[in-house]
Amino acid sequence: MSDGGAVRVWAPGRVNLIGEHTDYMGGLVLPMAVDLGITIEGRRGGDRITLTSDAEAQPVDIPLPIGDPALVQPAWGRFVAAMAAELGATEGLVGTIASTLPKGSGLSSSTALTVAAALALGDGGPPVETAQRCLRAEIAATGVPGGLMDQLVISGGVAGHALLIDCRSLTFEPVPIPLDAQVVVLHSGQHRQLAGSAYADRRAQCEAAESIVGPLRDATLSDLDAITDPLLRRRARHVVSENGRVVAFAAALRDDDLVAAGALMLEGHRSLRDDFEVSTDALDGLVQTLATTPGVHGARLTGAGFGGCVVALTEPGLELEGPAGVWIVQAVDGARNLAAGGPTSG
Ligand code: GLA
Repeated sequence: MSDGGAVRVWAPGRVNLIGEHTDYMGGLVLPMAVDLGITIEGRRGGDRITLTSDAEAQPVDIPLPIGDPALVQPAWGRFVAAMAAELGATEGLVGTIASTLPKGSGLSSSTALTVAAALALGDGGPPVETAQRCLRAEIAATGVPGGLMDQLVISGGVAGHALLIDCRSLTFEPVPIPLDAQVVVLHSGQHRQLAGSAYADRRAQCEAAESIVGPLRDATLSDLDAITDPLLRRRARHVVSENGRVVAFAAALRDDDLVAAGALMLEGHRSLRDDFEVSTDALDGLVQTLATTPGVHGARLTGAGFGGCVVALTEPGLELEGPAGVWIVQAVDGARNLAAGGPTSG
């Protein structure tokens, strides 16, 4: 884009319907991009990135070229800085960020910011390429070894659909959300803490299990008997059973069998609670309440866990109450350029 070009981009957050802690093991996930997100509006030019955000007290003001993005202050600027470094950006940006995504909720506000920054600072590209760049940037910014789910659905989401993503082949297939289903996100009231070592520990444990039985993506539950360490066996059992639930859940959505879909969500939550141990009392209590609420088909923690949100599948029009925020969300298209004639994300 020419020097001084106007920029207006939007990136959604995401909610994962099922397929948790499977992406970094080459597994299956079924997230959707949601109608809450981040807009960056501004003008390219100069040799600094200067952004204010309505979600943050401190602005970001970083000179180009970027040194080590992990050292940028305030910390939210690291995602923007890492994206600029990833793109080798030589042209700055002055602008504002507006967010409707609650921070620390597990709805991927950091990835939405990174994908929006990719579009604001670069020229977009196919969703898979954008997603891979964003993941590299996020790892440079935080050191957390995440998978590609969030970046892929935020870049490539399809309105009215969840995306069945194969994180091994990086192919995806839109699965329609039935018209008689409503997706509700409920905050547990507990701020999510992902940057700690718990996420990296889970990944390392899954990799240790793989070194015994081979790729978890290809393993059956009975293959896991070869793992003698009970903790590693439980971690692997979550991943293997969760991949199966994603396939069954996608089939249930296609058949409009919301009772079956809801049961799979509850089963998935139990697996995250007991086998993967990423739930909390607040998340468990919320899921338990929802499980006995008329009109709720099923519910489970969504995202990495350790706090954050629960996702529920309900009858349309059902109004739920939660300990913190409650959002009825729609599946929307992935990130896009809103400036007329501007580049798109794919
Ligand atoms: C976080 C990561 C994702 C995924 C989920 C758990 O959201 O960013 O890549 O691993 O946790 O499913």
